[in-house]
Amino acid sequence: MNNLLKGKKGIIFGALDENSIAWKTAERAHEEGAQFVLTNAPIAMRMGQIKELAEKTNSEIIPADATSIEDLTNLVEQSMEILGGKLDFVLHSIGMSVNVRKGRAYTDENYDFTAKGWDVSALSFHKVMQTLFKKDAMNEWGSIVALTYMAAQRTFPDYNDMADNKAYLESIARSFGYFFGKEKNVRVNTISQSPTPTTAGKGVKGFDGFISFAEKMSPLGNASALDCANYTLTLFSDLTRKVTMQNLFHDGGFSNTGVSQEIVDVFQE
Ligand SMILES: NC(=O)c1ccc[n+]([C@@H]2O[C@H](COP(=O)([O-])OP(=O)(O)OC[C@H]3O[C@@H](n4cnc5c(N)ncnc54)[C@H](O)[C@@H]3O)[C@@H](O)[C@H]2O)c1
Repeated sequence: MNNLLKGKKGIIFGALDENSIAWKTAERAHEEGAQFVLTNAPIAMRMGQIKELAEKTNSEIIPADATSIEDLTNLVEQSMEILGGKLDFVLHSIGMSVNVRKGRAYTDENYDFTAKGWDVSALSFHKVMQTLFKKDAMNEWGSIVALTYMAAQRTFPDYNDMADNKAYLESIARSFGYFFGKEKNVRVNTISQSPTPTTAGKGVKGFDGFISFAEKMSPLGNASALDCANYTLTLFSDLTRKVTMQNLFHDGGFSNTGVSQEIVDVFQE
């Protein structure tokens, strides 16, 4: 390994199990010399295997519901205490739609479900950053990353209200990125990742068809959770200090491909 993150400290949200993008990111960040606190919603702690990850990466776990300012304030304060100072990186790897979970179509949303999903998947990113900002918890030239999906730009019918949540999330990265850049020299970006077989990913209706289609459309094939972890580390490293307020596609070329030969072949008479 290259010690790319040697001496860097951070918080990683969203490691549920070994398939999670956040899990792979934690493993890789540890290998590259970073120290961090792991966090997830209290309910996910009971179901998840996060303790195993904490042992493996020599990190502490602080439960926090990312929609609760009280939980986030406690998380940020305690993390700085545990890590012995301000933070260099934060990963927001959180998503959940109640409409998707309950099988409600986009044309039949329950708006209480919509509001909850938006709070968890999109507004929580603002809440995390506002807490970090007010506590002056980020070191200069630190880096904040959230994960998103291309349904924010183009329609994928089964992605449901998560498409709207991701559009909002990406907008927050730009808006908060301005203030974090100006006032604290901290960068804020979103990574737009390929379909990935995780708990959140597999919750999307028709996921198997969806991921196979993306695989055949992408010149480099789909990016895996490990690929995503590696890309995230570059954004946490000192090698990307002037990259901010961007939505960065990490999808093997899917987003710029009109059609691939493999897909044409399927429809060729
Ligand atoms: N899997 C994919 O196909 C894919 C593609 C593009 C982007 N993403 C995004 O990647 C991110 C990570 O998802 P994943 O695919 O690793 O799935 P995952 O299910 O492993 O992770 C989602 C995490 O969100 C956490 N979470 C839910 N509610 C929370 C709350 N109130 N407070 C704190 N945490 C909460 C869950 O506990 C879980 O750890 C999400 O933003 C997701 O939308 C996933």
